[in-house]
Amino acid sequence: VTIDVNVNKPGVEVSPMLYGIFFEEINHAGDGGLYAELLRNRSLEGDKNRFPHYAGVGGAVLSLEKKGLLNNAQKCALRVRFSGNASGFTNEGFWGVPSVKGRTYTATFWAKGKLDGKLKVVLTDKKGEARYGEAEVEEKITGKWTKYTAKLTSHVNDNKAYFGIIASGKGDVVFDVMSLMPPTFKNRENGCRPDLAQLLYNLKPKFMRFPGGCYVEGQGSPDNAFHWERTIGPIEQRPGHLNANWGYNVHDGLGFHEFLQLAEDLGAKPLYVVNVGLWHGGKTPVDSLQGWIDECMNALEYANGDVTTKYGAMRAANGHPAPFNIEYLEIGNENNQPDPNAQSDRYYERFKKFKDAVLAKYPHMHLIGNVVAWGDDNPKWESSESVELVDEHYYRNPAWFAENFRKYDSYTRKGPKVYCGEYAVTQGFGKMGNLNAALGEAVFMMGMENNSDIVHMASYAPIFVNENDVHWQPDMIRFNGTQVMCTPSYYVQQLMAKNLGNRVLSVVQNDPYSHSMMQKMVTPQTSQLGVATWSTQASFRNFALSTMREQNEEKEILRIPNSGRDWKLKEDVFSQVSDKPGCSSILPVMSVQGTSYTFTTKARKENG
Ligand code: AHR
Repeated sequence: VTIDVNVNKPGVEVSPMLYGIFFEEINHAGDGGLYAELLRNRSLEGDKNRFPHYAGVGGAVLSLEKKGLLNNAQKCALRVRFSGNASGFTNEGFWGVPSVKGRTYTATFWAKGKLDGKLKVVLTDKKGEARYGEAEVEEKITGKWTKYTAKLTSHVNDNKAYFGIIASGKGDVVFDVMSLMPPTFKNRENGCRPDLAQLLYNLKPKFMRFPGGCYVEGQGSPDNAFHWERTIGPIEQRPGHLNANWGYNVHDGLGFHEFLQLAEDLGAKPLYVVNVGLWHGGKTPVDSLQGWIDECMNALEYANGDVTTKYGAMRAANGHPAPFNIEYLEIGNENNQPDPNAQSDRYYERFKKFKDAVLAKYPHMHLIGNVVAWGDDNPKWESSESVELVDEHYYRNPAWFAENFRKYDSYTRKGPKVYCGEYAVTQGFGKMGNLNAALGEAVFMMGMENNSDIVHMASYAPIFVNENDVHWQPDMIRFNGTQVMCTPSYYVQQLMAKNLGNRVLSVVQNDPYSHSMMQKMVTPQTSQLGVATWSTQASFRNFALSTMREQNEEKEILRIPNSGRDWKLKEDVFSQVSDKPGCSSILPVMSVQGTSYTFTTKARKENG
């Protein structure tokens, strides 16, 4: 293949912000994932009647304590009656606490009560008997809530270890806000799991959108939305909340400050998504939005205000005197959707109220509006209220992405610009991502790049899935306590971001493997076999099937000599070729000049 690049005919400038990442607390992406905390239900707020993920060992008796608590953020604590015989309790972590030989962990907890003897923090087996690592807690337990710290080093590998607190003597002690932290990315206190954060870093993201997704909105109650101010400060002052959209409780240890810190550590600009008074199943009326607007303005002051401001001073007290500088703000997540009940969310009115408040104080803030997210291939901003960027979402099959290579060619250049904030192949194939999905996304990304005078930003979604709690798939990084697996989509994101140019150039491709050389029409009649055989005049890498008929067929087989197998197209990677005429799909096959190939298909419909 020869590619002639015409440097004298420059096209559009490539948006330097084009490729970023979308982080959402979904699939235990944060708690039990990117957030390094290893203990689950660490402050006992996960269940008001029980204490899941804890168990007594050595005859200790556990109960839930609701009186005399540490502070107002804490509603429950764990009371432990130690029997005096190396008794205590364990926490099973997120599907196991990974004990890694040679790794040093920092254990902290709050406690008060009476105890003969001392406490030990341990890494142990389920029964609390084996010792993978342990450390004695030096200070004695008193009647006053006190924070205790101990460091322990493991000498045994066990992916499914338990963390425990064991006493040498008898006693009655109440515990709360227990934590076990391994070393973190960039050694941040209360930071991120290094292997997962490094994978994000390796994507060289220009921006990081957070904290979602639907997670921004919450479900069932406004209390289940993300409220930034409940997620900052010492961890014992964070109440945590129910992530009702994705079915689990979160500690909010990965809070607003940590998100901003992570974006900074990744070299990405933070893109914060705010709630506009809408949650799944309810809303605040448009004329009562001031509380939500204040919340948004306070968040911006926390991130951007100098240390003389109320919230800027709070940020400094939390360890970051310099502003984080949020420049991108999205007003709502997937709001402004068609309303079947005609009870409009009045999104545009909400948008205007937020816009007016934000731009009055931060005139250079880049604002992003919502447009129809599901089922519409050409969502439009339908308001006279101007907006700089709109957030388009596409979850489709690989063929859709390939076919939409030219989608943005025809967009008006008058704006608004596009932030393609969520896109991924999610349809028509297995659930863990594959090469064909990644190819479809790559083609679409090249189309965005060609049009990046209008497509300013884009982010694949979602990023993470803990394989023990899958709510959404595919995701580009799959992990458990110790292992990670990146899908081909991850590597496409990385390849594209790492090789982002600054200008599109006109290109002429001279391709000896031209279509006419390969193309064969197969025109079977109903229930007959159609066969095409051809011999290639050159080696090639991809076999493409493009349907012109009305109905897809089940018996398509590509026979490749010496490959040791036939490709049954329905069961293999072609299964996503849709029934739509003109759909195509690509099978990556290495084949050799002079070899002969046979493609068979059986028609189901006439005139197909
Ligand atoms: O990416 C998963 C979900 O898809 C997001 O939470 C939401 O914005 C979209 O519907």
